[in-house]
Amino acid sequence: MRMGLSGRLMEFIILMIMLTARAKAAAIQPKPGCQRRCGNLRVPYPFGTENGCFMENKFFIRCDNTSDTPKAFLQRSNIEVLDFYPDSQLRIRGSVASDCYNSSERFYSDTWLRSGLYNISHTRNKFTAIGCDTYAFIQGSIGQSYATGCLSLCNRRNDVINGSCSGIGCCQAAIPRGVRDYQISLASYFNHSKVLSFNPCSYAFVAEDGAYNFSVSDLDNYSAMTRGFPMILDWTIGNQTCSEAKKDPENYACKENTICEDPEFGNGYMCKCIDGFQGNPYLSNDCQDINECETSKPCNSSCHNTIGSFYCSCPEGYEGDGRQTGTGCTYKVKPQNEKFPITQIAIGISIGIFALFLFISWSFLVLRQRKILKLREKYFKQNGGILLREQLSNREGYGENVRIFAADELEKATNNYHESRILGQGGQGTVYKGILPGNRMVAIKKSRIGDQSQVEQFVNEIIVLCQINHRNVVKLLGCCLETPVPMLVYEYVTNGSLFDHMHNVAGASFLPWETRLRIATETAEALSYLHSAACVPIIHRDIKLANILLDDHYTAKVSDFGASRLIPSDKAQITTIVQGTFGYLDPEYMHTSLLTEKSDVYSFGVVLIELLTGQKVVCFERSEEKRVLALYFVSSMKEDRLLEILDPRVLNDVNVEQLKEVAALARQCVGVKGEERPTMKEVAHELAGLQAMEKYHWGKRNLQAEEAEYLLGELSNTCGDYATTSSSMGYDSINNQIAFELDGAR
Ligand SMILES: *[C@@H]1O[C@H](CO)[C@@H](O)[C@H](O)[C@H]1NC(C)=O
Ligand SMILES: *[C@@H]1O[C@H](CO)[C@@H](O)[C@H](O)[C@H]1NC(C)=O
Ligand SMILES: *[C@@H]1O[C@H](CO)[C@@H](O)[C@H](O)[C@H]1NC(C)=O
Ligand SMILES: *[C@@H]1O[C@H](CO)[C@@H](O)[C@H](O)[C@H]1NC(C)=O
Ligand SMILES: *[C@@H]1O[C@H](CO)[C@@H](O)[C@H](O)[C@H]1NC(C)=O
Ligand SMILES: *[C@@H]1O[C@H](CO)[C@@H](O)[C@H](O)[C@H]1NC(C)=O
Ligand SMILES: *[C@@H]1O[C@H](CO)[C@@H](O)[C@H](O)[C@H]1NC(C)=O
Ligand SMILES: *[C@@H]1O[C@H](CO)[C@@H](O)[C@H](O)[C@H]1NC(C)=O
Ligand SMILES: *[C@@H]1O[C@H](CO)[C@@H](O)[C@H](O)[C@H]1NC(C)=O
Repeated sequence: MRMGLSGRLMEFIILMIMLTARAKAAAIQPKPGCQRRCGNLRVPYPFGTENGCFMENKFFIRCDNTSDTPKAFLQRSNIEVLDFYPDSQLRIRGSVASDCYNSSERFYSDTWLRSGLYNISHTRNKFTAIGCDTYAFIQGSIGQSYATGCLSLCNRRNDVINGSCSGIGCCQAAIPRGVRDYQISLASYFNHSKVLSFNPCSYAFVAEDGAYNFSVSDLDNYSAMTRGFPMILDWTIGNQTCSEAKKDPENYACKENTICEDPEFGNGYMCKCIDGFQGNPYLSNDCQDINECETSKPCNSSCHNTIGSFYCSCPEGYEGDGRQTGTGCTYKVKPQNEKFPITQIAIGISIGIFALFLFISWSFLVLRQRKILKLREKYFKQNGGILLREQLSNREGYGENVRIFAADELEKATNNYHESRILGQGGQGTVYKGILPGNRMVAIKKSRIGDQSQVEQFVNEIIVLCQINHRNVVKLLGCCLETPVPMLVYEYVTNGSLFDHMHNVAGASFLPWETRLRIATETAEALSYLHSAACVPIIHRDIKLANILLDDHYTAKVSDFGASRLIPSDKAQITTIVQGTFGYLDPEYMHTSLLTEKSDVYSFGVVLIELLTGQKVVCFERSEEKRVLALYFVSSMKEDRLLEILDPRVLNDVNVEQLKEVAALARQCVGVKGEERPTMKEVAHELAGLQAMEKYHWGKRNLQAEEAEYLLGELSNTCGDYATTSSSMGYDSINNQIAFELDGAR
């Protein structure tokens, strides 16, 4: 009796527990009879339009059914929802910023978005700008401020490539992850005055990848552009991870037959029906088995559905997996018994084959060795080896500077170009670390240029570079011409690049402002030397953080002359195909293809800006997006917001004036018009002055010749006439833009 009573009590208690558990589990379910439609749009749980029908406040949807076509809006905002996706995303209608002109007026409308608790999907959206005189920024904050954007220029409608969004009429940039709000602004260089006839407006917007395809007609179709494009937002449940959420079954949102997934990035979790099931994972018992046999008819013969899966079977006498996409069902063939001395024959054949194989590989090796030797000789000639050797033998004193390495030597030094020896990879080639006999470290660049028409120029560059002797320029030790592509051997600089240090690449240390300023000064001095003091002025063309190397004492060494061009002293500019790294590329050069030393000044200005802002302004590593860094910097300075974008880690009361002066200098360097930029000589002077904390009076543009001397390294005085023996040099002659005689007379 006693036992019976306590047994009942236990039963009762258990029942109570089960009931409350059920009641609590039901608490996270929508109330029955919820309105699940807003016009044509289905609003699935966890979203809902009425109290008790959504899971959390962030899933409240306001249905505006006052018009004929009801619209759904996110929470209490005016963000219109176009679609809900079970996989933690939803599609909304984005808005478009526009900047329009007629001959007398400007009509400007920027746009912004505050998405509350939703993040803008960085994988599925793109920032796009349209126009022929257009640059656009997208900015906001993700803890720190970020800005990115793009630049689009064109002169004539015919230049624009229909369907291609690549910087001519249309440009795109990725958006950073974790963004919840943004503001888009648009600007132009010339108020569209040069393109008014076919493109009066610039537009910019964030849109789902693939939802907008650029068409030339969009350049002057206002209504097509301003209607708004869909974009994707991410959502998750709560702010816990799956494992945290599971510990709290009362509030755990994933129901039967589901799995929980953590997002790739960010808080919260998401639920999914397990494979082979479909339904709404947030509703009780809604994930139901899919009857594959009915839905996709996967089998060639009989099909059997199982929970979560299916299998096929074949009729008797047939074999195979029975699947349409597999082997199907085939008639079974009965194996025949053979009586045949199969093993003996097999052994005989194997021995024969083996002997034949040995013979073939031996002759192959011999032939290959011969071929390799021949090939090397061929490459040597192709790559201008003969020419170079001639050149070298003609000059006294070159012998010790430039050395011609043999292919074997470099192979050995780099452990046969082993992956572990790769120091860096860039547009011009791959750089390996090499160890020469005697433990001498070198950097070996395997260039990518294999173009015959550039051989003479390549040789020329080697010779010129060999003569550069400046403490802030990486020294070229030699080259190898026996390989399909020419290879260059440089001194090894031990401490990585400025990029590594500015971007906290593993092992790199933080650079205080004094060091940054000194590195900037040294780089400016090296460039000034290249521009005005080397025997033939050299334009580097690819100045960027990654090409400024640092040694143990953080001394700057400018490297990578793969894109460099020599400018004969009687010319101030040459026409070339535009080359360089986008973010650092002079917009004027990009526009006109006219290369002057001012292009390096622009790139150097971008480097200065990066040294000043650090990662305060997140302009992304992809250089296309960095194109607008300079523009953004200048626009911030114009708006008097300089202090907001300076690197907070180096900004302090003591150096704020100095930072401002460097910022003013950087701003001049990235001026739109080349002629308004200072020369490298002036920049180097100004920086050196600032570094010594003596205010050099800026503005005197015509420096005396002697003033320039101080920054130069030793100069070989025999260099002026080296080119007289080689007949003519075609710069970028592949493009046939301009070819000229390099007479070298001076
Ligand atoms: C509009 O929606 C509300 C609730 O969301 C509902 O009460 C009302 O009947 C709807 N009106 C029309 C015209 O559908
Ligand atoms: C520019 O637009 C304004 C407003 O629409 C209009 O009043 C003005 O006449 C236009 N100017 C020209 C030159 O078309
Ligand atoms: C563009 O228009 C603004 C005024 O709207 C004017 O100040 C500026 O000088 C114009 N720029 C050009 C290049 O025409
Ligand atoms: C854009 O082009 C892609 C591929 O060509 C196509 O799949 C997509 O539907 C197009 N989008 C629009 C809006 O036309
Ligand atoms: C550009 O391409 C779109 C489709 O991608 C096409 O509809 C349009 O006619 C094309 N325009 C021109 C000028 O070729
Ligand atoms: C402008 O775009 C709209 C919508 O895409 C289209 O219907 C219209 O034909 C376009 N107009 C012109 C002149 O191309
Ligand atoms: C998580 O959400 C709960 C309630 O929704 C809130 O009280 C808590 O502060 C949040 N935690 C974090 C780290 O955001
Ligand atoms: C959105 O991004 C922020 C970072 O800005 C992150 O903390 C948050 O967890 C993300 N939320 C979601 C739902 O991904
Ligand atoms: C499936 O069966 C059809 C006829 O029943 C046959 O023609 C086809 O080859 C079969 N496919 C496979 C993969 O066995």
